[in-house]
Amino acid sequence: MSAKNLVDRIYEIATRRGFFIPTAEIYGGLAGAFDYGPIGTLMKRKIEEIWREIFVLDEDNVWEIDGNVILPERVLMASGHVENFVEPVAQCKKCNAVYRVDKLVEELLNIPGEGKTPKELEKIIKENNIRCPACGGELSDVRVFNVMFPLLIGPTGRLKGYLRPETAQNIFINFNRVWLAVRARLPFAIAQIGKSFRNEISPRQFLYRLREFTQMEIEQFGTPEIFAKHPRFHEVVDLEINFVPAKGENAGRTIKIKLGEAVEKGIFPNEYFAYYIGKTYLFYKRLGIPDEDIRFREIPDYERPFYSKMNVDVEIRLSIGWKEVEGTAYRADYDLSRHSRFSGVKLAIQHNGKMVIPEVIEASFGIERTMLAILEKCFRPENYDRPWAWFAFPPYLAPISVAVYPLLEKEKAMVEKAKELYRKLRKKKVNVVFDAKGSIGKRYARADEIGIPFCITIDHETLEDDTVTIRDRDSKEQVRVPIKELEDILNKLISGSVSFEDIKKRYPLVGKK
Ligand code: GLY
Repeated sequence: MSAKNLVDRIYEIATRRGFFIPTAEIYGGLAGAFDYGPIGTLMKRKIEEIWREIFVLDEDNVWEIDGNVILPERVLMASGHVENFVEPVAQCKKCNAVYRVDKLVEELLNIPGEGKTPKELEKIIKENNIRCPACGGELSDVRVFNVMFPLLIGPTGRLKGYLRPETAQNIFINFNRVWLAVRARLPFAIAQIGKSFRNEISPRQFLYRLREFTQMEIEQFGTPEIFAKHPRFHEVVDLEINFVPAKGENAGRTIKIKLGEAVEKGIFPNEYFAYYIGKTYLFYKRLGIPDEDIRFREIPDYERPFYSKMNVDVEIRLSIGWKEVEGTAYRADYDLSRHSRFSGVKLAIQHNGKMVIPEVIEASFGIERTMLAILEKCFRPENYDRPWAWFAFPPYLAPISVAVYPLLEKEKAMVEKAKELYRKLRKKKVNVVFDAKGSIGKRYARADEIGIPFCITIDHETLEDDTVTIRDRDSKEQVRVPIKELEDILNKLISGSVSFEDIKKRYPLVGKK
């Protein structure tokens, strides 16, 4: 299947089945904007929960906050975003289309555009006679465009602000309040899940480049001495990652490297940085992304964000190419020092008898991009192994875990029994749906299409001996189990602590659907 067909197919299912809805669709839509539908909302929550388990609950000293998305201009001046969060653009003099020039140059000439000044880009445009790709018109001079959304706050409109371009800034400006409130000591981290906003010049590729998106960010505070050694480094030291260095003899090539070796050779600045790389790798593995489709790319100097000393991005191989879904950045003391200077409030913590402005290592994840990667990697097109398309989400990630069906809608006793079971599972907080309409085969197909891993059917035998069938999405096989054991079996299957293969060894198989 071509990349376009694949994305179109996923888009069709995702919009029809309630993963995403184009924002303001009934008014013609809004570029770069999607609402989460009911299924997408459940899935987003699952991704957040897994992230929280790995980055917050598994650690001793991580605190989560939930900051305001509207920030006054001073915050973003201090952070450097007002000055530096810009992209080079040029406008067609004929049709008025606006282009991000660094990307245009990359696409048309296959040379790096990022990091070049507007003057350099202008020269490239002139020398190569680049014209508007849409109408062939002449392009204007290159200017810079700030990609933050500006706001006028309050009725006088005199207070200027912005929608935050990253969740990180709330973490920095609240630094003193947070450590004082929880009596934190270095090292500790502050995490946040929330919306961020960027006025992208050309939002595109479905969920990849959006103007409003969700970040999961963690800012780890410490000092260079603390960051040198991580007490749990032994847990990740032997993890081997696909790594694309930005410098040295292997620059631009993918090599395999163990995290311990990467620290020893000075490729990563310290054990804490490598530890976050390791946790990030484990997070994407848990989301079901295969090893060969995950790589860590060191960002060359010219591409690196203005606040960072070192950046390593996670890229996932999608049909549209290797795409960034996460970035780990060594922001050092850039943000806390700048905010201390601009606000006049020293953002510092007591450490070894002195007040110190700590350094920061950041891990920053985009949920929608991660979701796009999961949708692609789990997608099984029509005729892959059955006539309909389906999603092979890991059971703990599937938006709906269980469907409950009465075999025949007209059999009142079956319907009642199925409803009773459905309600019981709901009370136990299982994400479960009830469906009585259509043939059982059609219902399985509908469930597969949104990746429901387990379907329970109440049939004639249920009414006689209180057993039900569990149908496994991936193998399409069914076993018959006693209702009284069902809850325990489902819990184990959904959490992944047992597989359907294990269950098959303990209960009778009842044939394929
Ligand atoms: N905080 C890093 C980013 O938003 O890219």
